[in-house]
Amino acid sequence: MIFNMNVLKNIELIRKDFPILSTKVNGNQLIYLDNAATSQTPNCVIESISDYYKNLNSNIHRGVHKLSQLATEKYEESRKKFKKHFNARSTSEIIFTPGTTHSINLISNGFIKFLKKDDEIIVSQLEHHSNIVPWQMLCEKTGAIMKVIPMNEKGELDLNVFATLLNDKTKVVFVNHVSNALGTVNPIDIIIEKSHNAGAAVLIDGAQAAPHFEIDVKKLNVDFYVCSAHKLCGPTGVGILYGKKEWLEKLPPYQGGGEMIDQVSFEKSTYADLPNKFEAGTPNISGVIASGIGLDYINKIGLTNIKEYEDYLLDYATSKLKEIDGIKIYGESKTKVSVISFNIGEIHPYDIGSVIDNLGIAVRTGHHCAQPIMDYFDIPGTIRISFSFYNTIEEINILIDALKKASKMLS
Ligand code: ALA
Repeated sequence: MIFNMNVLKNIELIRKDFPILSTKVNGNQLIYLDNAATSQTPNCVIESISDYYKNLNSNIHRGVHKLSQLATEKYEESRKKFKKHFNARSTSEIIFTPGTTHSINLISNGFIKFLKKDDEIIVSQLEHHSNIVPWQMLCEKTGAIMKVIPMNEKGELDLNVFATLLNDKTKVVFVNHVSNALGTVNPIDIIIEKSHNAGAAVLIDGAQAAPHFEIDVKKLNVDFYVCSAHKLCGPTGVGILYGKKEWLEKLPPYQGGGEMIDQVSFEKSTYADLPNKFEAGTPNISGVIASGIGLDYINKIGLTNIKEYEDYLLDYATSKLKEIDGIKIYGESKTKVSVISFNIGEIHPYDIGSVIDNLGIAVRTGHHCAQPIMDYFDIPGTIRISFSFYNTIEEINILIDALKKASKMLS
């Protein structure tokens, strides 16, 4: 692959922004290859959290006093940044939640209002458990039926089968943009269009897509798009939920409490306008502000540069991994982000993970909260490496040597 070396020259400078990347683990230099679980945190985000508690700490939307006003401004500034980044029509379409799982639960719970017995909802076989279980709970409550878009050996969804699943009983379709376990990028534009033609709403779990490329919710014409700040260089505990205004207006609130109300009496309460209707209680104020700083950081590097560099790492690592005896890579879709799942011979993924952890290399092992994918391949789990824009070719070379050592030791 041809690669613009100018991007590479900046990697060493970029790495200096992440203090954890110079940490030693088990006496070795950390090599962090678990970015699909969470990205690392740049100094500007760490400093934003510290600055908030040193200089701004107060509750938002509630006080006439100066600190409350400043904190409110910064919190709402963050909403504006995410609105712009995802190209939403209005800031009232951006809801802050504690994370992607919470966002999916918020939406699936709201759909109780729209589903009756024998209505149908559609999921894909490539989902994380967090985009399966909340909807199963919805089916238990409503008597709706869940149908599944199957995957093939390459880790791609079968859109022909999908077309046969849609009918006038289909109320909502929920799939991920990118599979956390295999890295497959799903053709969500086609899924959204076909679902809408059948009269169904669409929720896209974008947790694994947002860190890797640009997303335009208006162009996608998606009804709900959810992701997490901690995979976008932000802190944990902040989710970004985009919802079309007409849907968010129709959905009931998820939690009751302060901030989400208009008027309260013992007879009846009325709810606040968007987005407050879905933000009951004191939110993660410092986290939301710092998430906006993380987003700025990513945008400074640029998602186009990030994608180009990560594709380069993905290609290099895939070809090097294929040189290892007995390796099997799971998920070889033509459209993939920088996530690679694999096993080596019959060695349990956990054993490889433990050996390379001793060498300072952090990877995820197991079923990756995606057991239906593991069932398809009839395996208990995989070793998963996932790159971010601060990883390097040198780190991949060290990983490959470590895997060869581990494989020899454990065979
Ligand atoms: N969903 C995250 C992962 O895939 C935690 O690791």
